[in-house]
Amino acid sequence: MKNNEINQNFFIREGEKKDREDIIKLTENIPSVAQFSRGPLFFKKPFIDYLLADDLVSKVVIFESTSGRIAGFAAAIRNPLKFYLRLGLRHPLRVGLIMFFRKAKIFFANFIKKKNISINKVFSEPVWSKSTDKIARVVFIGVAGEFRERGLATELYLFLAKILKKKGCIKIEAHIDGNNPLSLKLHQKTGWKIKKMPEGDYKAALELNNL
Ligand SMILES: CC(C)(COP(=O)(O)OP(=O)(O)OC[C@H]1O[C@@H](n2cnc3c(N)ncnc32)[C@H](O)[C@@H]1OP(=O)(O)O)[C@@H](O)C(=O)NCCC(=O)NCCS
Repeated sequence: MKNNEINQNFFIREGEKKDREDIIKLTENIPSVAQFSRGPLFFKKPFIDYLLADDLVSKVVIFESTSGRIAGFAAAIRNPLKFYLRLGLRHPLRVGLIMFFRKAKIFFANFIKKKNISINKVFSEPVWSKSTDKIARVVFIGVAGEFRERGLATELYLFLAKILKKKGCIKIEAHIDGNNPLSLKLHQKTGWKIKKMPEGDYKAALELNNL
């Protein structure tokens, strides 16, 4: 796969199966922001394997030129319903577990804080567009702590958008946690349309037509 130079310190390219271990390490060091990083390792690793293997998933990695270390990773799924169905057909229990851990974590976090438990937040997803090959959903974007604030997440999104557009995508969607101001800033800066959801999180959409 071709490496593209961002500047003299970093390269960007599409993610490949050989990046597996580095991506696992990177996601371990980033607080839970994506579905697969909210669960225990025994299903996080297979989930990353599916992400890297499935052609419905577009993935991008940035690595440091000198060390070869992965500094950032982003992935988006076209037709998520089809992707999760494929995943479920291979390992039905794991899909159930992903959903279970996500919902249980939010439920207990709210319970412990003695906040009003929002049934919306526990049981509903943000409103996504119809699941088709033309619309992609971000499943992960993250940059390792020491490489942040250098425009790398911006580069990840730019490259991801280009790849998706080549595959015929017209739009990318993302879910932003209401408690993640850095993610909100990143999406605002990179031109996403952002809508606040009733439960406090945000849904973001980036049209690819004008890219
Ligand atoms: C959110 C995240 C991906 C941003 O990565 P990054 O490489 O630092 O982002 P960039 O350098 O491209 O910055 C993009 C914009 O975000 C904002 N931003 C990023 N870090 C910031 C900080 N510490 N303080 C204030 N603004 C910040 C800025 O507006 C910046 O644009 P600017 O520098 O032109 O003003 C990174 O902080 C991260 O990995 N966080 C943990 C994972 C996560 O939350 N992912 C998002 C889930 S949806």
